[in-house]
Amino acid sequence: MKHFAVFGHPIAHSLSPRIHKWFGTQTGVALDYVALDTPPELFQGTLARFGADGGCGANITLPLKQDAFALCAETSAFAQRAGAVNTLTNRDDGTWRGDNTDGIGLIRDLTRRHGLDLRARRSLLLGAGGAARAAAHALLDAGIGELVIVNRTAERADALADAIGDPRRVHTRYWSDLRNCGSFDLVVNATSAGHAREPLDLPFGLVSARALCYDLSYGAAAFGFLAWARAARAGKALDGLGMLIEQAAESFYTWNGVYPETDPVHAQLRAELPLLATD
Ligand code: ATR
Repeated sequence: MKHFAVFGHPIAHSLSPRIHKWFGTQTGVALDYVALDTPPELFQGTLARFGADGGCGANITLPLKQDAFALCAETSAFAQRAGAVNTLTNRDDGTWRGDNTDGIGLIRDLTRRHGLDLRARRSLLLGAGGAARAAAHALLDAGIGELVIVNRTAERADALADAIGDPRRVHTRYWSDLRNCGSFDLVVNATSAGHAREPLDLPFGLVSARALCYDLSYGAAAFGFLAWARAARAGKALDGLGMLIEQAAESFYTWNGVYPETDPVHAQLRAELPLLATD
C-alpha cells in the first residue's frame, strides 16, 4: 500500500483524495490518500513526519505551494519558472523532489477536453500571483499568440512579464485601462478574488463572441466570474474542475508510472458540481 496526502489550509473540501482513490482503483495501484489541514507554520514538521512514516508523495495546495518549492532538494524546470510546487515525491533519503503539474493540467483541459486551439487566441490573464505565474508559463509554452497580463497591483504584472522575458508576445496593461484593451478570445481568471467573494470590475467588451472564459478556481469561488462571463455572452464559461482533475492525473503518473483515464472522473464530479449556483 502506497501512502499519499494533500497538504493545504483550509483543506476540508478538497476533492483530491476522492480523485486519487478513483485513479488507484481504475489502474490497480493500491493506495491511500488523506487530506492534512496544515497551517504554514506547521508545514515543514508535518511533511517531515509524513515522509518518515513512509509517505511516497504529496500534493500541495493553498497557501503552501511557495513554501513547498523552498524546501525541495530538487525541482523540475517548470516548478522553477512558476516558483511553486504542487507535487512532492519522496526521494527515499528524507528529501523531496518538487514538480508543478498545474500548468500542464490547465493546457490539457483547454486543448484536449475543450478542443481549444491556443495559437489563434488573443488572451487576457487576470492576476499575477502564484496561480497566474504557472498559467502564464504554461500558455506560452503551449504556443499562445498573445498574452496580456492585468493585475490589481500593476507592479506585480510588470514583474511577471519581466520574469517571463518574451516582450513580443507578453504585454501588461492597467486594470483601469481594461475598457480600452479591445476584446479577447481567451480570458483566464487567476485572481483569488472569488475565494473572498469579492467582485471583479470587468467590462463586458473584453469578451469576443467566440471567447472562452476560464476561472482557475472551481465551485463557489468561480461563480462570480462565470456569471460575469455568461452575462458578457462568452462562447464558453468554465471553472477549473477539469484542470484540477488533469493536474491530479499528471501527479498520479509522476508517482505511479501509469496514466489514469480522466474523463469518467470528470463526468462524475461535473454532475455533482454545477458550473453556476442554481438558487
Ligand atoms: P495565488 O497563489 O492564488 O495566485 P496570490 O499569490 O496571493 O494567490 O495572488 C492572488 C492574486 O489575486 C493577485 O494577483 C491579487 O492581486 P494583487 O497582486 O493586487 O494583490 C489578486 N486579487 C486578489 N483579490 C483581488 C480582488 N478583489 N480584485 C482583483 N484582484 C485580486
